[in-house]
Amino acid sequence: MIYLNGKFMPIEEAYVPVLDRGFIFGDGVYEVIPVYSRKPFRLAEHLARLQHSLNGIRLNNPHTNEQWHTLIEQIIASNAADDQYLYLHITRGVAKRDHAFPAGVSPTVFMMSNPLLVPPQELLLTGVPAITASDNRWGRCDIKAISLLPNVLLRQLAIDAGAMETILLRDGFLTEGAASNIFIVKNNVLLTPPKSHLMLPGITYDVVLELAQAHAIPHEVREIAEGELRTADEVLLTSSTREVMPIVSLDGKAIGDGKPGAMFKQLNQLYQQYKASTMRAGNSAVLSE
Ligand code: PDD
Repeated sequence: MIYLNGKFMPIEEAYVPVLDRGFIFGDGVYEVIPVYSRKPFRLAEHLARLQHSLNGIRLNNPHTNEQWHTLIEQIIASNAADDQYLYLHITRGVAKRDHAFPAGVSPTVFMMSNPLLVPPQELLLTGVPAITASDNRWGRCDIKAISLLPNVLLRQLAIDAGAMETILLRDGFLTEGAASNIFIVKNNVLLTPPKSHLMLPGITYDVVLELAQAHAIPHEVREIAEGELRTADEVLLTSSTREVMPIVSLDGKAIGDGKPGAMFKQLNQLYQQYKASTMRAGNSAVLSE
């Protein structure tokens, strides 16, 4: 079942008018929330980022956090898989086409859930290729906007090249992936760029940094120059649906020895342990568990 504007229904029955500003302008924001063993992962953080995105496009949150909690519980219960990925989508609603914000219009609220298929073990053992491209997106990449045309085009470059992700460089510095955050490892230090308007503040990114902190893994959050990316010992990507993955080549050239490295193995193990602890403890799991 999906949720649309107050009602649960089969997806085949869900329609949105063509004048929806999401359809016409891409005028909306979204969230992707993983659910493990029917428990939403880092829900408070995802709802806080949703609020940040809504603030960024000047749209009132249609629901309180309590209401979101109830809706999310209901949608999880109405879907069969234990591990799901929730997609929440809010647009500025349906109005005559005009760039100006419409007055007195209710937002469109849509939620769906699909089975969560985490990356197969095989890919974690071999690692995956990535390519690089120039980051030609707008200046508010911290907003999780539904207008994803640049990300779609950039990610397709990776698909066309037989790679898993496109890593983006802006003015000679790493920003993120087309649909992920990026970490590198140099001399056993985990490095990642600081949050800014030029990247999405990833929930998985935060978890990885918290795990590094909790387990005394040397790490630094700072700008990463293109040359450092290209000569890194390891490169990792993170996202809610792909968790932590090892990137073993960049534009056809091997990273390090071309195999997933020790930092990936340690962080992935910690991430899986942390996930398991949240399933046991609900959302109050502590990192040191
Ligand atoms: N994308 N950066 C971009 C541009 C992203 O689209 C995503 C995730 C991330 C990682 O954020 P998080 O760890 O919170 O998932 C970073 C989701 C999964 C998507 O659009 O499907």
